[in-house]
Amino acid sequence: MSLRRSSSSEEDPVDRIPPGSQILRRGAEAVLYRGRWHDLEVVVKKRVVKSYRIPSLDLKIRRFRTMRESNLLHEAKLVGVRTPLIYSVNLDSTSIIMEYISGDRLKDVLDSFKSSELNEFSMRIGVLIGRLHRTGIIHGDLTTSNMILIPKGEICLLDFGLGEHSTGLEARGVDLHILRTILYSTHHTIAQNSFQRILDGYRKEMGREEADPVIGRTDEIARRGRYVSAR
Ligand SMILES: Nc1ncnc2c1ncn2[C@@H]1O[C@H](COP(=O)(O)OP(=O)(O)O)[C@@H](O)[C@H]1O
Ligand SMILES: [Mg+2]
Repeated sequence: MSLRRSSSSEEDPVDRIPPGSQILRRGAEAVLYRGRWHDLEVVVKKRVVKSYRIPSLDLKIRRFRTMRESNLLHEAKLVGVRTPLIYSVNLDSTSIIMEYISGDRLKDVLDSFKSSELNEFSMRIGVLIGRLHRTGIIHGDLTTSNMILIPKGEICLLDFGLGEHSTGLEARGVDLHILRTILYSTHHTIAQNSFQRILDGYRKEMGREEADPVIGRTDEIARRGRYVSAR
């Protein structure tokens, strides 16, 4: 991995994208390019300038999130959670060059799973989240768009830009709450079943003693949300 930070200039150099790359997706804060770099199939995640922020603060936020994302992608891998390999991090261009993961986003395939597959993959997702939480990592944006099902059946987690280190009940509870909310809004027909299996996987990995208070907190967060929105 190469880490470069050569100047304190607030310019946004755009030249870190390998020639011939194509735009893969435009996210809320980053543009994702797909291309070839040193004979590797890569994705470049480049955080773009947000003009509504004060420029110096904007640069700080983009640098911080770039750094945080690359660190957490790496740390997750160390505890057996599949994430893209990081090839290069550049804090001037606020970009990460990483392995291209070929497969289907869970968002696009979850609804078409047979019930046995749904149970199996939901359990696996729960196990992965348990592994992160057990080692003090909070993903921060657990949505089915940030999960890729790779051909051999493994699930790869992406997008740790909003992640953090914490072992707190609230942070863990919010992580699961975000996933439940996404399941109910995007995959409502299978949401209940899927979330129950996710919790089974989570309990299996974390152990009941650690997992049950987090699950209790997730329910409390949902009740709080309903109370706030009903007022
Ligand atoms: N390494 C990767 N390999 C393949 N696709 C990726 C990779 N990284 C991101 N993507 C695709 O780009 C989308 C947006 O990337 P993501 O990191 O989630 O950015 P954002 O912060 O904008 O949500 C993902 O949902 C996924 O479809
Ligand atoms: Mg994302």
